[in-house]
Amino acid sequence: MKETVLSGIRPTGNLHLGNYFGAVKNFVRMQDEYNCYFFIADWHSLTTCPKPENIVASTETILAEYLACGLDPEKVTIYMQSDVKEVLELYLYLNMNTYLGELERVTTFKEKARKQPDNVNAGLLTYPTLMAADILIHRALKVPVGKDQEQNMEMARKCARRFNNIYGVDFFPEPQSFYFSKEAVKVPGLDGTGKMGKSEGNCIYLKDDAATVKKKVMKAVTDSGPTAPNSEKPEVIQNLFTLLNIVSRPDTVQYFEEKWNDCSIRYGDLKKQLAADIVSYTEPIRERILEFSSDRSRLQAIAAAGAEKARESARKTISEVRHIIGFRDL
Ligand code: TRP
Repeated sequence: MKETVLSGIRPTGNLHLGNYFGAVKNFVRMQDEYNCYFFIADWHSLTTCPKPENIVASTETILAEYLACGLDPEKVTIYMQSDVKEVLELYLYLNMNTYLGELERVTTFKEKARKQPDNVNAGLLTYPTLMAADILIHRALKVPVGKDQEQNMEMARKCARRFNNIYGVDFFPEPQSFYFSKEAVKVPGLDGTGKMGKSEGNCIYLKDDAATVKKKVMKAVTDSGPTAPNSEKPEVIQNLFTLLNIVSRPDTVQYFEEKWNDCSIRYGDLKKQLAADIVSYTEPIRERILEFSSDRSRLQAIAAAGAEKARESARKTISEVRHIIGFRDL
């Protein structure tokens, strides 16, 4: 039996190169090896945005982009969180065994409460128990997440342990965080300030067309050029080389390394090459994004099939949980 892997995707807009090389590509790699569940966490988004505009359209866009990157609905269960109501029943049971004090101590809660002092709602407080329910509903063992999710993961383990202790069962396994570390590639931003990220506004999106990519790359920050042979590269230049390493052929990288080392490099040429190589990398993905996005009924059918598979597994868990607590089975 394959191990169960699960991850939730925050519906926060289009995928960029940082998302792709940091996470999505690894999700795709996992789909043959594990029993994978990936879902779009649309309920969670209500904790910060109670009245989302076009929630269905934006979750469908995300679905289209993940499919375009190569997630195969025949291999993985991909679904919308809000399509699997069983999660809510488990959320209720887990909330009954979770203490106010431990939820209040979660750093992300404190941060968000500070950011939205007029809306410190119960959903925000119980974000970690909803996340625990997402995971435990499929009794998942491995959860690929970023380091910022560690406290939420600790809460999920606590929920599993506590449930088992209270009812004297060995039902929920403790889910482990799964870091891609070696496989994850950190993609730098184009503004010389480190990581590519949506909030930094320095992203190249998978859906960007060739002209947009070129414009963004040509605007990347550089310096006045190397002054001595074989010198160390300042961060802004190293970032361009890092990107080149990710998308270009080794001989291309080699060529520009040599140009850097003998001080004959022209940043304009480097950027042109980088833009062209990014485009040839992302072009097939972009085409598939357009293809999936233009067929909403296909996307909805994929989401419906995913929801059905997810609910089948969720129903099993809930039925056992009801039995363990002592409720009537439905
Ligand atoms: N909290 C996660 C994030 O902010 C998203 C998420 C929701 C999640 N439920 C999950 C991740 C379950 C992993 C497992 O990125």
